[in-house]
Amino acid sequence: MKSWHITKHGSLEELKLDENAPLPIITDPLDILVEVKASSINPIDVAMLGGYGSNIIGLLKTLESFPVTPKVKFPLTLGRDFSGKIVDAGKSVNLEKLKIGTEVWGSVRSTYQGAQSQYIVVPSTDISLKPESLTHVEAASIPYVACTTWVAASTFGRLEPNWFLDKKVLVLGGSGGVGTFAIQLFKSWGAEITTTVNKDFLEKASELGATNIVDYTQPDCQFLLSSYGSYDFVLDTIRRNDFKNVLCLLKPDLSSKYVTLLTPVLPNTDKYGITLGLAKCKLDLACFVFEGLKFGTKVGWAIYAPNGDALDEVAKLIENKKIKPVIETVYSFDQLPLAMKKVSLKHNRGKTVLDYDL
Ligand SMILES: NC(=O)c1ccc[n+]([C@@H]2O[C@H](COP(=O)([O-])OP(=O)(O)OC[C@H]3O[C@@H](n4cnc5c(N)ncnc54)[C@H](OP(=O)(O)O)[C@@H]3O)[C@@H](O)[C@H]2O)c1
Repeated sequence: MKSWHITKHGSLEELKLDENAPLPIITDPLDILVEVKASSINPIDVAMLGGYGSNIIGLLKTLESFPVTPKVKFPLTLGRDFSGKIVDAGKSVNLEKLKIGTEVWGSVRSTYQGAQSQYIVVPSTDISLKPESLTHVEAASIPYVACTTWVAASTFGRLEPNWFLDKKVLVLGGSGGVGTFAIQLFKSWGAEITTTVNKDFLEKASELGATNIVDYTQPDCQFLLSSYGSYDFVLDTIRRNDFKNVLCLLKPDLSSKYVTLLTPVLPNTDKYGITLGLAKCKLDLACFVFEGLKFGTKVGWAIYAPNGDALDEVAKLIENKKIKPVIETVYSFDQLPLAMKKVSLKHNRGKTVLDYDL
């Protein structure tokens, strides 16, 4: 099979295409083997190429494989999202639901080899049946951003769809992979959406379901955001130096929630090692929570976690036409370095996808 991998962290030149890679082997009885038809690129893939998160991912790999030999660090295949077809299953997989030949979609946890391969092994609990109305290319654009948004919503306990009904939600960064999905998900749950985007995305954000759309490059951005507030829930997908300007937009009665995707867990453990890094995270979290309390709001970090059940729910919303994929560019499997370069240049509009049949 064909598979992309790296043998050390670095830049795009480290990506090597192996035309004769061995088929991955199922070792866990709950794992399945998938023939991948499409995958998409997320900023985390570019970051992991450069070594981001390698300390904590290394630790998780060791814990997951204990007491047998830890999974190897290299060669490493990147790529979290996939859509494809089941070709084999471990002996404990529920074959009623996940029959051989079934089309599935999902995101691969970072302790497993990624989806930039023609075949991958994934835990059956992390995947779901692909929505029939989507092509593989469309389906591959969604799982990672969907699972991340789901985690963001459940960071404060189970904030389920009915919590969002008639709530005012602010999505900071509505044009990226997560933002374009989050607008649609929270809208489908009955929230009124305000979002920030650059001027080229104003019309598209409205199409996706945002009611109030603010051009973040304009000087009156803060004023406009506060004129549409106070918000019940803010999802922040942008690295902000001025996050206090956001906290003051939330309802100051501790019913409101601010969740950011920019957590210090991976950067801290990369910089200080596991023990000191996690201690620093505890301190950062305490300061962060304290800052939120000063504004009368609850704050939290969200970190992606694979979630097959969440994807089942998202699939229903897709079949009911509440959510549609937002795809900017499609590349062939062999064009992975180009696709990674595109995502690394930022200014993404929805997702960049690899079509393995091109
Ligand atoms: N914690 C986690 O587990 C987790 C999971 C997924 C993603 N993330 C992180 O969350 C961030 C977003 O992810 P993504 O996949 O959506 O990235 P993305 O697809 O690259 O999108 C980022 C978007 O933000 C826009 N943007 C930049 N500056 C902005 C600003 N000041 N205000 C509003 N929009 C702005 C960008 O377009 P313009 O620059 O052209 O405006 C781009 O459309 C990334 O940093 C990613 O690493 C974290």
